[in-house]
Amino acid sequence: MTLTNIDHEKQIYCFKVFYAFLVVLLLRMNNPCIGCSEREMQALLAFKQGLVDDGNSLLSWGREVQNRDCCQWEGVYCSNHTGHVVKLDLGDQSLRGKISPELVKLQHLEYLDLSSNNFNRSKIPDFIGSLSNLIYLNLSYANFGGQIPNQLGNLTHLQHLDLSSDEYEWFDHSIYAENLNWLPNLSGLKHLDLSSTNLSDVVGWLEAVNMLPKLRDLILSWCNLPPPIISSVSLMNSSKSLVHVDLSYNNLNSSIIQLLSGTHTNLVHLDLSWNNFTGVVGWLEAVNMFPKLTNLILYGCNLPPPIMSSVSVMNSSKSLVRVDLSYNNLNSSIFQWLSGTHTNLVDLYLSGNNFTGAVGWLEAINMLPKLSNLILSGSDLPPPIMSSVSVMNSSKSLVHVDLSDNNLNSSIFQWLSGTHTNLLILIYLGTI
Ligand SMILES: *[C@@H]1O[C@H](CO)[C@@H](O)[C@H](O)[C@H]1NC(C)=O
Ligand SMILES: *[C@@H]1O[C@H](CO)[C@@H](O)[C@H](O)[C@H]1NC(C)=O
Ligand SMILES: *[C@@H]1O[C@H](CO)[C@@H](O)[C@H](O)[C@H]1NC(C)=O
Ligand SMILES: *[C@@H]1O[C@H](CO)[C@@H](O)[C@H](O)[C@H]1NC(C)=O
Ligand SMILES: *[C@@H]1O[C@H](CO)[C@@H](O)[C@H](O)[C@H]1NC(C)=O
Ligand SMILES: *[C@@H]1O[C@H](CO)[C@@H](O)[C@H](O)[C@H]1NC(C)=O
Ligand SMILES: *[C@@H]1O[C@H](CO)[C@@H](O)[C@H](O)[C@H]1NC(C)=O
Ligand SMILES: *[C@@H]1O[C@H](CO)[C@@H](O)[C@H](O)[C@H]1NC(C)=O
Ligand SMILES: *[C@@H]1O[C@H](CO)[C@@H](O)[C@H](O)[C@H]1NC(C)=O
Ligand SMILES: *[C@@H]1O[C@H](CO)[C@@H](O)[C@H](O)[C@H]1NC(C)=O
Ligand SMILES: *[C@@H]1O[C@H](CO)[C@@H](O)[C@H](O)[C@H]1NC(C)=O
Ligand SMILES: *[C@@H]1O[C@H](CO)[C@@H](O)[C@H](O)[C@H]1NC(C)=O
Repeated sequence: MTLTNIDHEKQIYCFKVFYAFLVVLLLRMNNPCIGCSEREMQALLAFKQGLVDDGNSLLSWGREVQNRDCCQWEGVYCSNHTGHVVKLDLGDQSLRGKISPELVKLQHLEYLDLSSNNFNRSKIPDFIGSLSNLIYLNLSYANFGGQIPNQLGNLTHLQHLDLSSDEYEWFDHSIYAENLNWLPNLSGLKHLDLSSTNLSDVVGWLEAVNMLPKLRDLILSWCNLPPPIISSVSLMNSSKSLVHVDLSYNNLNSSIIQLLSGTHTNLVHLDLSWNNFTGVVGWLEAVNMFPKLTNLILYGCNLPPPIMSSVSVMNSSKSLVRVDLSYNNLNSSIFQWLSGTHTNLVDLYLSGNNFTGAVGWLEAINMLPKLSNLILSGSDLPPPIMSSVSVMNSSKSLVHVDLSDNNLNSSIFQWLSGTHTNLLILIYLGTI
């Protein structure tokens, strides 16, 4: 080995040491535990002090030497760039008590989840509206009560808002709103769930919702929603962005159907169950306008039979995977719609209608090559006429069949025997 070679080795060695040092330095700078600021730590400790922590979820929150870095506390997350507390994830931690106003000192907070705790019907604090960087706010199932604070309108960066509660508490909807005038301020909102809040006085709820151009998920189930007054709102901004709509268990009337038809071309999930659509005309035409619809859930709506004309084969037909039209006033014309192009249908629920005299219902069902769940009880179904239908396409895919409480006879067994090799559950309680 020559001298220059040794020098060279030394140089490389020095460079390696320097490089390692640099990497360690950079890693430290990027280290998530830069440590939280004294101010944020004090705010968190004040927040803890207001709470009753039955489950000892916040044991790591303390002043002791080993706990000093609040970014390491349970449920607390800091920005890797700035070191500020950006996320409080305290869902389902058996927390009770009061929410301290000191919380607003966490001005960099983007994500707040206090869901599934018990705040004993206390009002959602107004000062939440001062956490102006929030992107995600989840106060669901946390037993809040009283009026939704208008101050939420200050949260202009919000993308997810969930104030829903337990549908089993629907008798005493403890959260309510008199208006949603603050809602249009949240122009980046993508997900809104106010289920089981009492919105019975909010006449302009649809206008407010329509002002949200990015809204994808609209979940207002069990809200006592009054029927919207359809005016010029029917074709509006949010229409195009909506993907998932659940307005079940409200007091809507058939005008909502009018509203939905039109521009909702991205709708995938539509649930309007337990509203009263007596006398609605054109509901099936409206539904057929949604080219991406996969779930159509309209049980218990007093839906009249559709008038079958040109609607039987249309766009949405192909995309539908789950159809629930149970407990309506449909007649056998619905089978005409079902046969044909519903090649993706997996779940079909049609119980509680009146299919007296329906001819060809079994043929229609046999046209559905992917059908797995067929729930069709209590609908006065007549015995199928067994001819060529006994061995057909859908037979093989069926897993769960309920034809109880109809007027079938033993001919149904002729259909069942044969190729139903995947059938796991069969409920047949007819007279034989
Ligand atoms: C910080 O970085 C860690 C590790 O890469 C990551 O798990 C964590 O989610 C990041 N925190 C935030 C708030 O982005
Ligand atoms: C809010 O929290 C509840 C319960 O913890 C959860 O089921 C729900 O999905 C959350 N909402 C959002 C928008 O993430
Ligand atoms: C809940 O609030 C009521 C009054 O509104 C009070 O009497 C009761 O003690 C509170 N319960 C708990 C567990 O804080
Ligand atoms: C709303 O935001 C403004 C400015 O961002 C602030 O001055 C005001 O205090 C906030 N109001 C509430 C109730 O949070
Ligand atoms: C809407 O946000 C603006 C600030 O962006 C605020 O001044 C106004 O008070 C808010 N309106 C409501 C109803 O919260
Ligand atoms: C909802 O609010 C209305 C009016 O504010 C009230 O009359 C009604 O009783 C409330 N409903 C429920 C279920 O709390
Ligand atoms: C719809 O959005 C446009 C811009 O995206 C806006 O100018 C208009 O005011 C919005 N209309 C309603 C009714 O919100
Ligand atoms: C639905 O209710 C609204 C408001 O009460 C009313 O204006 C409208 O005429 C009703 N529509 C139908 C079809 O009953
Ligand atoms: C449904 O609406 C019709 C007419 O609008 C009305 O006659 C009927 O009583 C309503 N049914 C229920 C269960 O509210
Ligand atoms: C069906 O879809 C085609 C394009 O995929 C579209 O041009 C046509 O307008 C749609 N028809 C209805 C009734 O939505
Ligand atoms: C179903 O009801 C519609 C509308 O009331 C009617 O026009 C049609 O004849 C009925 N179809 C059958 C098979 O009863
Ligand atoms: C079912 O419809 C038939 C006529 O299509 C009618 O005679 C019968 O009364 C209806 N049954 C019920 C329970 O409404």
